[in-house]
Amino acid sequence: MEVVIVPDAKAGGELIAQSIVDLLGRKPDALLGVATGSSPLPIYQALTAKVKGSGMDVSRARICQLDEYVGLPAGHPESYRATVLREVVEPLGLTEASFFGPDGSAEDVQGACEAYDKALAEAGGVDLQILGIGTDGHIGFNEPCSSLASRTRIKTLTQQTIDDNARFFDGDTAQVPRHVITQGIGTILDARHLVLLATGEGKAEAVAQTVEGPLSALVPASALQLHPHATMVVDEAAASKL
Ligand code: GLP
Repeated sequence: MEVVIVPDAKAGGELIAQSIVDLLGRKPDALLGVATGSSPLPIYQALTAKVKGSGMDVSRARICQLDEYVGLPAGHPESYRATVLREVVEPLGLTEASFFGPDGSAEDVQGACEAYDKALAEAGGVDLQILGIGTDGHIGFNEPCSSLASRTRIKTLTQQTIDDNARFFDGDTAQVPRHVITQGIGTILDARHLVLLATGEGKAEAVAQTVEGPLSALVPASALQLHPHATMVVDEAAASKL
């Protein structure tokens, strides 16, 4: 695993955005897997600025989701579909036709999970998957004790993740969905390049366990140790326990 320590979140965003621009230069129809949460936002802002600033044609780029809440009404602003449309797809001038994700409002959730794994494979697999990390070491919504070989499936959030994500729901934990669909750890490991951005002191313990701890389902992000091309971009605060 490659670990790159940068001064701050903005520098991390710039670095990763440049690697996405390079990828799209080599492969204009690359499939970019995107994560939500606050950590990746500097990536999407820097990427949009680079694309707009250079006039680069990214119209063939494809975007897919990492995870989704189950049961939010269609179009809810905090659904991950709406978030990715707002933060990534629309700023890049792409349309919904370039974007796909798991259906969190499907009646048959298990079927939606299987369909999503199939859609990812049929799309040729993810070229570059952006990841954040939860304070408990989760990636996507693969909470501690998730199988390292897991595929896309339904999961129940831990109380810690519900508390962490309440800030997107007016600080009200009662509004945070309890169930989610997430790419499994095995699904995530299928991507050709994994890039995790971790920023802030609150992620320092999870980062240290991911990089220096043993491979363990207790720290789902430690699965990156298994991947032949995984990059951790960490700001100085998040690197403080390395
Ligand atoms: C959620 C998302 C993860 C994300 C995590 C951390 O749980 N499912 O993909 O990495 O939040 O979010 P943040 O970057 O806001 O700390």
